[in-house]
Amino acid sequence: MNQAQYRDLYKFSISQPDTFWAEQAEKFISWHTRWQTVRQGDFTTNDMTWFAGGKLNACYNCLDRHLGKRKDQTAIIWQGDEPDTEKHLTYGDLHKEVCRFANVLKDLGVKKGDRVCIYLPMIPEAGIVMLACARIGAIHSVVFAGFSPDSLKTRILDADVKIVITADEGLRGGKTIPIKHNVDKALESCPDVKTVVVVKRTGKTVPFDAKRDKWYHELMSKANADCMPEVMDADDPLFILYTSGSTGKPKGVLHTTGGYLVYAAITFKYVFDYQDGDIYWCTADVGWVTGHTYNIYGPLANGATIVLYEGTPSYPDFSRFWQIIDKYKVTIFYTAPTAIRALRREGDKWVTATNRDSLKLLGTVGEPINPNVCEWYYDVVGNKRCEVVDTWWQTETGGILITPLPGATPFKPGSASWPLFGIVPAVVDDKGNEVEPDKAGRLVIKQPWPGLMKTIYKDHQRFVNNYFKDVPGCYLTGDGARCDKDGYYWIAGRNDDVIKISGHRIGTEEVESAFTSHPAVSQAAVVGVADEIKGQHIYAYINTKAGVEHTDKLKQELVQHVRDVIGPIATPEVIQWTKDLPKTRSGKIMRRILRKIACGEDESLGDTSTLANPGVVEELIAEHEKTK
Ligand code: PRX
Repeated sequence: MNQAQYRDLYKFSISQPDTFWAEQAEKFISWHTRWQTVRQGDFTTNDMTWFAGGKLNACYNCLDRHLGKRKDQTAIIWQGDEPDTEKHLTYGDLHKEVCRFANVLKDLGVKKGDRVCIYLPMIPEAGIVMLACARIGAIHSVVFAGFSPDSLKTRILDADVKIVITADEGLRGGKTIPIKHNVDKALESCPDVKTVVVVKRTGKTVPFDAKRDKWYHELMSKANADCMPEVMDADDPLFILYTSGSTGKPKGVLHTTGGYLVYAAITFKYVFDYQDGDIYWCTADVGWVTGHTYNIYGPLANGATIVLYEGTPSYPDFSRFWQIIDKYKVTIFYTAPTAIRALRREGDKWVTATNRDSLKLLGTVGEPINPNVCEWYYDVVGNKRCEVVDTWWQTETGGILITPLPGATPFKPGSASWPLFGIVPAVVDDKGNEVEPDKAGRLVIKQPWPGLMKTIYKDHQRFVNNYFKDVPGCYLTGDGARCDKDGYYWIAGRNDDVIKISGHRIGTEEVESAFTSHPAVSQAAVVGVADEIKGQHIYAYINTKAGVEHTDKLKQELVQHVRDVIGPIATPEVIQWTKDLPKTRSGKIMRRILRKIACGEDESLGDTSTLANPGVVEELIAEHEKTK
């Protein structure tokens, strides 16, 4: 697509959205029954239905309809943690495996609308199980296998899950992850889970509850490979995915079948310009939304060949990503800034030791990428030959909203650039008024699109309050941004109490609750501080109970405690002891001040005289000097 074509199609998509979306839905998706209305509801009713009356099955769209042409085409190239482990599944193989597991689920009593929790490492079974759920109309809730038993438990309970699909162990960077053990621990508090299906990954002997646990391979060996896909309403849920917000526990973002799938399919095609013969690799774990939309649903709906990788960028050495690209002749590569920064730090030699000639396009997602890092990605990884698409989106948005398009968008490194079709962003001030070009403000989206989440599972009011209350008539993203005179969006990152550590989204309140669940802690306040590699890290102000001694050993214990409660992704980097926290007269913690102190920006603290306890500021600054 060239720039003029982008501009024309964009104009059409926002001036006649219903016609545009109907055309896309027709072109990208096979419907069992055509819809009656393209969209019902908007950002004032906050109850949007896409393609009402339409019927389809997401799994059918990702597999069955391709069988005629692509039965023998590779669907998934799986590369294990060890370079010599791999598997290739054709569309025909994948279809069979998915149908078998769909029958297994049915035999285990899983019905349309039931929730299935998937807690698996990056192995082909993760995709197989997701698609099997979609095939029978069960709603999957994938939980990232790096989350702790406690985080898993919360998600299982919130979604009223009765069955968990897991593995004996995970394998990443040469280290094992005790996945089954985590499930056993989580299930101590989930009495309603009566069945656990365990994939044998490493073969390690793990505790096995003969009544509750079943081996995946045993069930599969007896299962039939014929399974009719369930005919789903476009508005039926496809999956729930938990993500962190500013406050409270993680929310179950619910995506529906029709709207989500249309959006996943079209954005994959336009953004990555996938052509037959391309080999596409997205490094995201299926536990995150990128793994859902751009590892499974988007690519497979387009009949693509994908690489799924189990391991890390640095194992056995820092060349691993580039070696995989050479090995499988990857043409499109999509990863996160944190990985790019970490690999860049190790020096160019790890990259230049490989040739990467197959590459055509590079993508990034998950957090802002600094212009110089983006340039390195373009110059060194892509040999100045491959365009870079810096794609901005969120769990809630279902797919990419703002991104350059290959061939259409002149490169401005560090900018997510222009809106995709049907997306109308704006930058507004605190009152909700649009600001001038180049002025920073809050990023909102003014028009509905089919990929947007339907609701928060079991909490529609939270959905309304979170996203539509502050700026009426718009979807509030929670990100700060500015739009330059050329219409390019520059995303600054979250402007709420959500932090992004290595691209992973964590609410400060979740980390604070983890701290205060430790017996030594009285109060905790957590802020995000800029980090050269991780993007942000956790800086915690901890106020202990009377008589508790402030030792390094206690610091280590607290760090371990937070890792145990949430998972290693929430590991705090710095703990600062504090006697008190800066509060307003109404008792609210002033995070702005804590953030500035943690970042060493005390000259710009602003007026602190209105605090209920202004004296605390100097103490905090002095302690920060000692801590850093
Ligand atoms: O702050 C933005 C950041 O990631 C947030 C969404 O996180 P999550 O729901 O975990 O989804 C991540 C993958 C889609 C956003 O609110 N973010 C995502 N992509 C970018 C980004 N920030 C800047 N540039 C991006 N390209």
